[in-house]
Amino acid sequence: MRVTIVGCGYVGEALARLLGAQAQSHLTLTTTREQRRAELEPLGHRVLALKASDAPALKQALEAADAAVLCMAPGGDRQVDAGVYAATYRDSITTLLALLPDLPQLRQIVYTSSCGVYGDAAGGWVDESAPVVPRDAHAEVLVESEQLLAQARSEQRRVCVLRLGAIYGPGRDWSPRFKALAGTTRPGDGQSHSHWIHRDDVAGAMAAALAGAWDQTVNVVDDQPWRVAELLDRICAAAELPPVQWSGASPEATPMVDRRISNRRLRSLGYELLHPTLSGF
Ligand SMILES: NC(=O)c1ccc[n+]([C@@H]2O[C@H](COP(=O)([O-])OP(=O)(O)OC[C@H]3O[C@@H](n4cnc5c(N)ncnc54)[C@H](OP(=O)(O)O)[C@@H]3O)[C@@H](O)[C@H]2O)c1
Repeated sequence: MRVTIVGCGYVGEALARLLGAQAQSHLTLTTTREQRRAELEPLGHRVLALKASDAPALKQALEAADAAVLCMAPGGDRQVDAGVYAATYRDSITTLLALLPDLPQLRQIVYTSSCGVYGDAAGGWVDESAPVVPRDAHAEVLVESEQLLAQARSEQRRVCVLRLGAIYGPGRDWSPRFKALAGTTRPGDGQSHSHWIHRDDVAGAMAAALAGAWDQTVNVVDDQPWRVAELLDRICAAAELPPVQWSGASPEATPMVDRRISNRRLRSLGYELLHPTLSGF
């Protein structure tokens, strides 16, 4: 299979390594930075430096591909404004849609979205059939991008949207982020649930989507949503750090959203999680 990974960053690289190890794929990898070329070259057959909103460059990246995996993101863990989000996701997908008539061989698109598209369910379980209710401008971009990408689906072309939880793994350890909060007072009550997924399970799910020709939206989260307060309590206790206090007041800027996101569909598609829950604290 000829696969183009658009946005070969943290999870894109993990996917490239996984597919490379299986040795059945011809890989094209993209980055926005020429200086990453040398780092990526050992992982694929071709490396291109491009922004996906650059139509001629994206066409070059995709013109021989059977499958495209879109896992671009603006700047890793860095916070960016909604305009940069739109330029990264919406503009890339709009560009791809315009190119599709020239890409008849492209039979599958896999796209990494986020569980952040789900609205509040008062702590109840939600699956992929739940309505998407963006709570802020960033999530609005993600919802719009998913909806745009759905236009790419046809009898000849499958579209799989993977809604990811918060990604952790080598180089993105989750516990220092939380330990840094020890002894502080946080807004709210910490009772909302957080959702996690190891980098290798993101790559594993993307590879399974390609191999299994998935043509649907799939939540990619591990088995155990954690209440934020409980997770912080455990981490601080294990590290003998002072606990986090909660103000009880709701954060003003964004309304409280609490839901537990089900991975039943991921499981029913036959994917076995390598890391079913956070561990090591
Ligand atoms: N991080 C999370 O917890 C989380 C949660 C939910 C969903 N996701 C989604 O998971 C996916 C992968 O995230 P990640 O952590 O692997 O991101 P990452 O490490 O920041 O990698 C992003 C990649 O996208 C490239 N890129 C940036 N802007 C681009 C553009 N306009 N056109 C094409 N490529 C572009 C970057 O280029 P360079 O190589 O030049 O940096 C990089 O290769 C993203 O779709 C993200 O939205 C992440």
